[in-house]
Amino acid sequence: MSVDMTKWQAIAKENIHNRIQATGRLAGKITIVTGAAQGFGKGIAEELYKEGAVIVIADMNLPLAESVAAELGERAWAIAVNVSDEESCANMVAQVVEKFGGLDIMVANAGVVRSGPIADFEKKDFDFVTAINYTGLFLTCKYAAIIMEAQHEADPTAMFDIIVNSSKSGLEGSNKNFAYAGSKFGAIGLVQSWAMELAAYNIKVNAICPGNYLDGPLWSDPVRGLFVQYLEAGKVPGAKTVEDVRRFYEAKVPLNRGCLPIDVARAVMYCVEQKYETGQAIPVTGGQIMLN
Ligand SMILES: NC(=O)c1ccc[n+]([C@@H]2O[C@H](COP(=O)([O-])OP(=O)(O)OC[C@H]3O[C@@H](n4cnc5c(N)ncnc54)[C@H](O)[C@@H]3O)[C@@H](O)[C@H]2O)c1
Repeated sequence: MSVDMTKWQAIAKENIHNRIQATGRLAGKITIVTGAAQGFGKGIAEELYKEGAVIVIADMNLPLAESVAAELGERAWAIAVNVSDEESCANMVAQVVEKFGGLDIMVANAGVVRSGPIADFEKKDFDFVTAINYTGLFLTCKYAAIIMEAQHEADPTAMFDIIVNSSKSGLEGSNKNFAYAGSKFGAIGLVQSWAMELAAYNIKVNAICPGNYLDGPLWSDPVRGLFVQYLEAGKVPGAKTVEDVRRFYEAKVPLNRGCLPIDVARAVMYCVEQKYETGQAIPVTGGQIMLN
């Protein structure tokens, strides 16, 4: 059963023009970034904050989220969320509306990866990835949409954004990484469908499909990072060091480097500033993926 959001819809309607004063391209826009305690989410949050947004660092790791919010400054706030839990998602959105008066941008970024060959892959790992990357995406965006639809009623000229961090693995398959790729393809199906439905409320819904964030913790963590794992697993033929593995992945990219949070943040800003685009899946891959 859905969580009743009537009270927070009313608050959001009342406060539709009540935003914190700030300067920048996203001045005063109330923005949740899920999974923002580290990695891409953290970097995206930092860039959007610089552009004047009010930033909610929503993450399962509350202590880390709090330290990120403290680093950012007074327009940032941390909140605990488990995106795979419906009540937790509803509570996240309700608390943000209670504190800041509404919600303008939802960046649904939280995601996890479990990879491996199909014959060895455990159902629990498949369920884990699906619960966060796919079902969690639905739950995150459901409660954002509930508030944004109400805000539309208060001001039919206002525009809102739901922006989903999919992946280049949402645009083409990923070898021995099917649970992840399937969830990321699925995300684009959700985005296209929501874009059709929510256009009536001036809510744009777009996906961003970044390439590998080679400098981020997922890849570069010295103990559990994918460079170390791939080196140990012999996934890159002839690689003898972590640097060899890194160069192998960089060489796949025409622009010859990994994706950075600023690259993704620029795409987020494009989605917000562009008033005539919805339902897109935007590659940010240095040319590694080229759309037909
Ligand atoms: N790293 C890459 O190369 C890459 C490339 C393309 C797309 N992406 C996508 O970018 C997003 C972020 O990836 P990342 O590499 O920065 O990940 P990361 O592991 O560095 O960070 C993920 C964050 O999400 C949080 N999180 C995990 N499960 C959660 C849950 N159930 N509820 C709330 N928060 C949760 C974690 O605590 C962490 O802070 C993911 O959706 C990922 O699929 C990553």
